[in-house]
Amino acid sequence: MAESPFKADILNGQVALLTGGGSGIGFEISAQFGKHGASIAIMGRRKKVLDDAVSALKSLGIPAVGFEGDVRRREDARRVVEATVEHFGKLDILVNAAAGNFLAAAEDLSPNGFKTVMDIDSVGTFTMCHEALKYLKKGGPGRSLSSSGGFILNISATLHYTATWYQIHVSAAKAAVDALTRNLALEWGTDYDIRVNGIAPGPIGDTQGLSKLLPEEIINDKA
Ligand code: HXC
Repeated sequence: MAESPFKADILNGQVALLTGGGSGIGFEISAQFGKHGASIAIMGRRKKVLDDAVSALKSLGIPAVGFEGDVRRREDARRVVEATVEHFGKLDILVNAAAGNFLAAAEDLSPNGFKTVMDIDSVGTFTMCHEALKYLKKGGPGRSLSSSGGFILNISATLHYTATWYQIHVSAAKAAVDALTRNLALEWGTDYDIRVNGIAPGPIGDTQGLSKLLPEEIINDKA
C-alpha cells in the first residue's frame, strides 16, 4: 500500500461513524481514518462482520466499536448515532458506505427489489444524515464551540452517469445519493458549517460489490 499523502495525525481527536464500515470500501476507510488518528464506530447488519472488523481495527491500535443496525430502520439509525456519541463523547464524521447490490435485468426486477436498494442506499443515507445532524452542527453536543461543523461523506458510484446493464436500481439509488449530497452541502453547509461531500469510486477489487457485479461465472466465461 502506498504511503499516505496526509499527515499521520490529521484526524487526531476526531470521531467517525461509518455505515457499512465492517467490509469493503467502508472498512478500508475506517482503517485509514483510524491510522490517521480517528476513533471509529462502525454500523452494520452482520454481527460477525462487525466483530471481525473491530478486532482488526483494534489490532492496528485504533479505538473502535461496532453497533449492529440496519440503515433502513430509523430507530436503528438513531440508536447507533446516540451510542456512538455515548461511547466516544461526540461525533465529527459520518460516512455513508452501506449499500445493497445485485445484478438484475429491469424486466426481472420486482418493484420491491428496486425499492430495497433505494431504501438502503438513498433513504438510508438520508436517515443517517438526519439523525446525525444535531451532533454534527457547529457547537453541537460534545463539539467545541470554536471548532467547525462536522463532515459527511457519501459513497456513490459512476453507474448512473450513463446507463449500466442490470443496475437500474443501483443507478437510481446512487443518482439520489448524489442529489442529496449536493442539497445537504447547500443547506447544512450554509446553516451549520457541515461539509457534505460524495465520492464515486469505480470497481474496487476484493469487495462484495465487485464479486456481485463480476461473478466468477462471467470471469470464467471470458477466460
Ligand atoms: C433480483 C432480488 C435479488 C436478486 C434480492 N432481490 N436479491 N431480485 N435479483 N439477486 C429482491 C427480492 O426478490 C425482494 O423482492 C427484494 O429484493 C428484497 O430482497 P431480500 O432478500 O428480502 O432483501 P434483504 O435481505 O434486505 O437484502 C437486500 C440486498 C442485500 C440488497 C439483497 O442483501 C445485499 O445486496 N447485500 C449485499 C451488500 C453489497 O453487495 N454491498 C456492496 C454494494 S456495492 P420481492 O419482490 O421478491 O419481495 C455497490 C457499488 C456499486 O453498491 C458500484 C460498483 C462499480
